[in-house]
Amino acid sequence: MNKIIVAIDGYSSCGKSTIAKALARYAGYTYVDTGAMYRAIALYTLRHNLTAQADIIAALPDIQVGFIQVALPEGEQAQHVTLNGEDVEAFIRTLEVGNRASEISTIKEVRAFLVAQQQAMGVAKGIVMDGRDIGTVVFPDAELKLFLTASPEVRAQRRFDELVEKGQQPVFEDVLADVNDRDYRDTHRAESPLRQAEDAIVVDNSHLTREQQMQVIYEVFDKITNNQ
Ligand code: DC
Repeated sequence: MNKIIVAIDGYSSCGKSTIAKALARYAGYTYVDTGAMYRAIALYTLRHNLTAQADIIAALPDIQVGFIQVALPEGEQAQHVTLNGEDVEAFIRTLEVGNRASEISTIKEVRAFLVAQQQAMGVAKGIVMDGRDIGTVVFPDAELKLFLTASPEVRAQRRFDELVEKGQQPVFEDVLADVNDRDYRDTHRAESPLRQAEDAIVVDNSHLTREQQMQVIYEVFDKITNNQ
């Protein structure tokens, strides 16, 4: 059975990473969270006070983004993103970094910089990658493309719960406004806007439990890999 590439795209906070991680574990594949790569660059620009596009582009050669596996107490492994060798996972999941990531991801040179690295990660296949442009730009020939969606309210509630769990004190209306703003930016930018690949399978998980959703996805995955 040959390994395939699984491309997962969709709006922010619609559970892409949870699904991608579960599928990667099921398949024995490598998981790559491309949003974390944009967030790492966003963190760099915040730390170095870079706001002008030209300054951000000029800084790209000084930025190295990578991933490390970290052992969790329960014997599980987690993937953390690194910025110039530093584990920055703890700093990248804030609204501020998310918004900056959405902004810097509109810069053509930033996208080209990360897309090249993402394509290199998929050379040996056996990869589940999630993001906004994976099925359309990074791996247009991916054997399995999923496009995830859920209503803005459902996604805002999930994001709100996540932030509370992390000890932050969000206001629901702000989180919802943020989800809507980010959707608008992600779908309207000139460079690789978020859109559904024509051959993607659409999964609207507003009213699906995680188990129901994974069952559908595992079945599709098995069907495709059995024919490889
Ligand atoms: O999935 P996320 O929320 O961690 O992504 C953060 C931002 O990065 C998001 O607003 C859009 C951008 N992004 C992108 O443009 N392309 C990707 N492949 C992944 C993320």
